[in-house]
Amino acid sequence: MTPNEYLDQSTEKRHNELFEFLRFPSISAKSEHKGDVAACADWLKNHLNNIGFTASVYPTNSHPIVYAEYITDPKAKTILYYGHYDVQPAEPFDLWKTPPFEPQVRDGYIYARGSCDDKGQTFAHIKGLEAILQTEGKLPINAKLLIEGQEEGGSTADLTKFIKENKDMLAADIVVVSDTAQFNKDLPAVTFGLRGIAFCEVYVYGPDRDLHSGSFGGAVANPVNVLCSMIGQLHDKNGKITIPGFYQHCKPPTKWERTQFKKLPYKEAAYKKAIGIPALHGEKGFSTYERTWVRPTLDVNGIKGGYQGEGGKTIIPAEASCKITMRLVPEMKPDDICNKLERHLKRLAPKSVRIKVVKHGGAKAVVVPTDGPWLEAAGRAIKTGFGKVPVYMKEGGSIPVAGDFKNSLGLDTIFIGFGQNDDNIHSPNERFRVIDFERGCKTAAALPFELASVKK
Ligand code: BES
Ligand code: MN
Ligand code: MN
Repeated sequence: MTPNEYLDQSTEKRHNELFEFLRFPSISAKSEHKGDVAACADWLKNHLNNIGFTASVYPTNSHPIVYAEYITDPKAKTILYYGHYDVQPAEPFDLWKTPPFEPQVRDGYIYARGSCDDKGQTFAHIKGLEAILQTEGKLPINAKLLIEGQEEGGSTADLTKFIKENKDMLAADIVVVSDTAQFNKDLPAVTFGLRGIAFCEVYVYGPDRDLHSGSFGGAVANPVNVLCSMIGQLHDKNGKITIPGFYQHCKPPTKWERTQFKKLPYKEAAYKKAIGIPALHGEKGFSTYERTWVRPTLDVNGIKGGYQGEGGKTIIPAEASCKITMRLVPEMKPDDICNKLERHLKRLAPKSVRIKVVKHGGAKAVVVPTDGPWLEAAGRAIKTGFGKVPVYMKEGGSIPVAGDFKNSLGLDTIFIGFGQNDDNIHSPNERFRVIDFERGCKTAAALPFELASVKK
């Protein structure tokens, strides 16, 4: 039997196993789910041990890291696979057609939180490797799997430390990550760059308690009004970010990138329709993909303040706050950007309020080479699994640990996404196309053979 035949005849079992994995509400952001995250790590470790890996759970100050390996031959090539088993919070619950942690197949999709980001994609590699082990008896490469539980929280310093302290254990020839998307439903992709991220929280304090907006309105600054006005000043009319020095280290897109992106099939009307927007928006002079892949951005992710309950309440709220993330392009440094935002907000704030900016730092952007034998080999595996040669693209999301593979281990990463842009990651009704999972498993079963054949 071939690995592909094994995959074809074990579909039902494979889906049931993925469903078991998806049922853990492994939400890293919420302390009430700490136990679920740990239980999920344990399940994953046991699963990996059962299919022939040597797996362990490593506790950290945040959530545990699952590490597993299968060493064929110390002289063989080694692939380090990275993925994450933690997921984003599922709110707003009422927008889910079926509960987020009760996976269900509908219209050719597996619906569940984490189905695409990133349990389903990580599991495709696990099942691809299992298929080889079950049919060939061994792998053509050494496989090392590093699956963390804190990615959606920004992959704390714990993981960076784990990598630094375990360089020998993690030594490899190349890193493989499936935590991105394909270009579209019939066009697989290799992603050669991701944006970085910087994260801050802003608090605006007004009076020492909520006040009657009739008695005091007009004489006292309203923190919600002030915060909104400050946020409104962070972009100019051309969509440029107004923070002094924001673009100082930002490298412009290369000519090659701009030409490459222009070649990708893009239809504005379909793009707008898919997300339900009446018009596009963004920095003047840049195309949609340039705006989302190679330009830095600033977005408010959430805003809080005042009364939102039933009916009305006429007050001047005592405080307002918001969460801001900025997407970074190569050379921009998260701490530097957080400092610049803080300085700018302090300048913008009127004397009538006090403000506090909590800076959380973030992660730098990553770029990986677009040539060389590893990528060619990955391209062949994708062709086997998806029936098409992948295009090269960048993406706008961030995988915080990606820089560490290069910096601490000296390794390049192959980002092969099995997901789709409309899989609703971080949104209600997250899903993963059944056929993308199947093709992902087949790509994963072909990849070790292709990478084993690379001449170093
Ligand atoms: N898988 C995503 C990253 C991603 C999203 C890559 C879309 C390509 C396209 C990852 O799980 C993620 O969501 N990362 C966070 C990191 C943050 C919490 C520090 C992100 O990008 O917001
Ligand atoms: Mn992810
Ligand atoms: Mn994510």
